[in-house]
Amino acid sequence: MPPDTTTNSLHAVPPSGKQGPRPASSAALAHGSAAVRAEIAAGLAARQAEVSPKFLYDALGSRLFEAICELPEYYPTRTEAAIFAAHGEAMARAIGPGSTLIDLGAGHCAKAAKLFTRLQPAQYVAIDISADFLRESIDSLQQRFPAIDMLGLGLDFSSSLDLPASVREERRVFFYPGSSIGNFTPEQACAFLRRARAQCGDDGALLIGIDLVKDSELLDAAYDDAIGVTAAFNLNLLRHLNHLAGADFDVRQWRHRGRFNAAESRIEMHLEARHDLTVTWQGGQRDFDAGERIHTENSYKYRQSAAVGLLEQSGFQAREVWTDPHGWFAVIYAHAIGA
Ligand code: AVJ
Repeated sequence: MPPDTTTNSLHAVPPSGKQGPRPASSAALAHGSAAVRAEIAAGLAARQAEVSPKFLYDALGSRLFEAICELPEYYPTRTEAAIFAAHGEAMARAIGPGSTLIDLGAGHCAKAAKLFTRLQPAQYVAIDISADFLRESIDSLQQRFPAIDMLGLGLDFSSSLDLPASVREERRVFFYPGSSIGNFTPEQACAFLRRARAQCGDDGALLIGIDLVKDSELLDAAYDDAIGVTAAFNLNLLRHLNHLAGADFDVRQWRHRGRFNAAESRIEMHLEARHDLTVTWQGGQRDFDAGERIHTENSYKYRQSAAVGLLEQSGFQAREVWTDPHGWFAVIYAHAIGA
């Protein structure tokens, strides 16, 4: 699961749609930390307004993402699962027993758990923003797999990946499925993977899922589905911003946009103002013209060769690449390149 934010509770927002103009001082109570409020305010005030995709995941947003994964148009989750099902045995053979499996963005730990029987890691380290959330999953997994030493860490690994001494140093294998790497620009992705490389010895490795470039109609449909679940997921961000930043977004005044930008090789999600409007938040306000947008997410798509190149630049050499029959998604096993 992708990084969650500071809160899991939904703020009760008054019914939207009939808000009259309100003075700038009427912004509601802000529940985000000062740092979160400052980050949101800076993004909203930028010439091209933007908000980090990490704010998509409040309690409702996390559920909407799970619903997205069930959509016929959203191929990544099911395609990656099919690759793990078809090649799990080969993955276990490549990695070998006795590893230290470090799950980045573990969530329910379900993807890693499916590998345990074949992989037999010595230690399983689940990392996610919310440690509370991990505890339940870890406890029940520990019952099922008593031989594996298990550890849950609450850590925002996108900013720092310093691991405590309780994590075994031998044979660290970073597990980063779901193409979550796609939320980073290639430069950020490289910096992130280098931090992972720095956290493992020369016997370290990486098992990563990366979404591949494909027909733009398929990509567009996956991020703008027929029944509007992705639209709801994107629009829900505005409700979360109302809660975190004390903003007064009227969700009905905005529409979802999700489209492949071929030049940048990424899906871009935006929220677009349906008409001229004003938004107020704690400490600021902004006018948006009809058609003006807030950039909410990038999801980069790589060619297989570019994915392998990115890993190599980051200190990992690809040993095996598994894909689905259509070549839509890749799971790559890469070794740390020795010093
Ligand atoms: C969780 C970042 C992998 O980019 O496909 C799904 C998020 N956004 N639909 C993705 C997402 C819109 C997803 N990741």
